Amino acid sequence: VTPPPAGPKLLGFGAVPKSLADVVAVPAGYTASVLFALGDPIAAGVAAYKNDGTDGDFDKRGGDHHDGMEWFGLGADGKRNDNAIERGLLAINHEATTDEKLSSHFLHANGGTTTLPRPAAEIDKETAIHGIAVIEVAKSGGKWAYVQNSALNFRLTALSPIEISGPARGNAQMITKFSPTGTTTRGTLNNCGTGKTPWGTFLTGEENWFGYFTRGAADDAARGNDKSVTALKRYGRNQGAASRHGWESGGAADQYQRWNNSKTGTSVDGSDDYRNEMNGMGYIVEIDAYDKTRMAKKRTGLGRFAHESAAFGKVEAGKPLSVYMGDDSRGEYIYKFVSTALWNAADANAADRMAVGDKYLDSGKLYVAKFNADGTGTWVELALANTAISGYAAYKFADAADIAINTRLAADAVGATKMDRPEWNAVNPANGEIYFTLTNNSNRSVNPTGSQYLPDAANPRAYTDMKGTSAQTGNPNGHLVRMKEGASVSAFTWDVYLFGAEAGADKALVNISSLTADQDFSSPDGLAFSKATGICWIQTDDGAYTDVTNCMMLAAVPGQVGDGGKKTLSYTKTDGSKLDIVTPVGKAATESTLKRFLVGPKGSEITGVAETPDGKAIFVNIQHPGEGTALANVGDATKYQSQWPANAGYGAGKRPRSATIVITKNDGGVIGT
Ligand code: FEO
Ligand code: CA
Ligand code: CA
Ligand code: CA
Repeated sequence: VTPPPAGPKLLGFGAVPKSLADVVAVPAGYTASVLFALGDPIAAGVAAYKNDGTDGDFDKRGGDHHDGMEWFGLGADGKRNDNAIERGLLAINHEATTDEKLSSHFLHANGGTTTLPRPAAEIDKETAIHGIAVIEVAKSGGKWAYVQNSALNFRLTALSPIEISGPARGNAQMITKFSPTGTTTRGTLNNCGTGKTPWGTFLTGEENWFGYFTRGAADDAARGNDKSVTALKRYGRNQGAASRHGWESGGAADQYQRWNNSKTGTSVDGSDDYRNEMNGMGYIVEIDAYDKTRMAKKRTGLGRFAHESAAFGKVEAGKPLSVYMGDDSRGEYIYKFVSTALWNAADANAADRMAVGDKYLDSGKLYVAKFNADGTGTWVELALANTAISGYAAYKFADAADIAINTRLAADAVGATKMDRPEWNAVNPANGEIYFTLTNNSNRSVNPTGSQYLPDAANPRAYTDMKGTSAQTGNPNGHLVRMKEGASVSAFTWDVYLFGAEAGADKALVNISSLTADQDFSSPDGLAFSKATGICWIQTDDGAYTDVTNCMMLAAVPGQVGDGGKKTLSYTKTDGSKLDIVTPVGKAATESTLKRFLVGPKGSEITGVAETPDGKAIFVNIQHPGEGTALANVGDATKYQSQWPANAGYGAGKRPRSATIVITKNDGGVIGT
C-alpha cells in the first residue's frame, strides 16, 4: 500500500460548490488573481491591451486559449534554478481561438470577416495568437505579477520556423516549398497538453492541427490516389475539406498558401507546393524555455497524432526514459515512447538542453496500448519488424519515418484499443503509475451501428443521458484509467481509477465511483500531479454538465491500481441479449480522496496547472470564458456570455479573455492542504 504523502493533511479545505456564476471560485482561505491574459504585452514599448478589437502586434502579446503550462525556476542571475520559488518562467500553450464562421470574433472590431476570402490583416492577427508564450513571473511585496519587459519573454506562433527532428527529418513526406530538404517547417498549432523534461525543457503537444488545412475538391485524383490520400483521410482531411479559419485565402504569399494542402505544383517531390505541409504538424515539440535563441524541434519519434500531454515515467540512472502520450479523438489510442539512450543523471543539468533532447527523444521505440479484459495490458511496438505493420493491407509502410508520420495507421494495423478520447496523462510521483483522462466518447454504444463500437473493459460505459437511464449510446461523462508498468517493457496492468458522473446518477452504470455533490464532475481533461504534495489535479472540459455548473478543478489523493476490486456493468441490448462487462476499478471516492477546489467563469474550460516547487503558489489557466457568445453580439457587452476577467477588475474592455491565474493560500500555506 502506498504510504500517504508526508507533511500537512491534504484536502483540508472546504469543497467549492458547483456554480454558474461568472467568477473564479476557490475555497475559503485562498485567493485567486489574474496574472496574464490574452493580449497582454510581453515586450518593452508594446501598448497595453485595449481589448476592443483594434489591437495589433500579437506576436508580442499573450496568445489566446491558454492551455497546458509548465514552470521553469529562475535564480537571481536570471538563469535556470530548479529550487527557485519566487521567480520563474511560465511556458504557456495558446491552443486556439474563440471563433464562429471562420472568424476569431473577439479579436476584430466588428467580429471579423466570416466569408472567403478573409482579409490578410485579420489572418495575421489570428495566426499570431496561436502557439506558445514564455513569460517571466515574479513575486514581490507578496504579490505575483508577470514581467512585461523581461528579455526572457518570447512567443512562437503558427508561423515560427521549427526544426524537424527524429526519424521523419528529411523524409520525402516532409518536403515543401518552404523546406525542400524536409528538415524544417513553420509554426506550432493547437498546442494543448504539455510536459517538462528531466533536463529542463518544455514539451508542447499539437492537437487539432488538421482542421487548419484546406484540401481541393479534386485532390485525390491530382495525387494519383496514392497512399498520401489514405494518410490524409486517416487524419481527417478528405478532399474538399474546408479550413477552420480560411487562412489560405489571405493572398499569394507562402504564409497563406501553406494552409492549402492540395497538390498544386508539378514537381515529383512536393518542393513547389504545400501538398506535404500538414505532415509538419502533429508532433510533440521541444522548446528551451530559458533560451529563445534556440530553434524549437518537432520530436517526430514520439509519433504524429492529436497530441495532448507528454509525461515522463520514473527517471532512473542507467535505464531508458519513458514518455506517455494520448491521441485525443474518439476511438484513438494511448502511446508510450521508450528512449534508446539510458539515462545519465549528469544530463539533468547539461548546458546544452536541446542536445540532451536530441539524445533521448530522437531515437527510441514507440508503443501503443492494448487493454485486456482481465486487467492486464500489452504495449505493442510500432515497427516494420511487426508483420501486422509491414503486411498491413490498408497502407504500405516504407520505413520508420513513415510510421512516425502516419502513426495512427500503424496503430490501426496492430489492433490497439480504441479509447474514449485520451486527453492528458500524468505520472504519480509516489509510485510511477500512469493516469489518463478519457474525456468522453459519443461513439461508444451497446448497440453499435456505423462508426460506433461496443464498450469494453477499459471503456465500459455507454449511455446518453447523465442519469444513465436512456438509450445506451455514448460515454458523455468520461473516466480516468491508470496503468502500472510490469516486469517487461511490453506488459502493464490497469484499472478504471475514477468515473465522471452526476452525484444523483444511477450507481450501477453511471456513478460507479459514488461521487457526492462535493466531487461530481464530467469530462475530465487536464491532469497533473503536484510534486510538492502528491495531489492529483483533475480539470474538466465539459459539454454535458454545463447546464448545472461551469468547468472545474478537483484535487484527488489517489491510491493504486487494483485497489477497488472489480465491478460488473450489466447491459441489455435492444435485441434482448445481455452484455456484462467486468472491469477493475479504483476505490469509491471519499471526502479525503476527492474534492472540488475551483469552479471557473461562464463558458470556460479549466486547463493547465503548474506550481512553484514549495507548492505555495499554483498557476491555472482559464480557457475561453464567454466562448458561447455569438459573433453577432460582439460590441454589445451586455450580451457577452462572460465578462471575465474584466468583472474581476483585470484590464480594459469587457470582451472575455483567456488568462492565467495564480492561487495562493492566505496563511501562506501549501495549496491543497
Ligand atoms: Fe485541447 Fe483535447 O483538448
Ligand atoms: Ca485538453
Ligand atoms: Ca477537451
Ligand atoms: Ca477548449
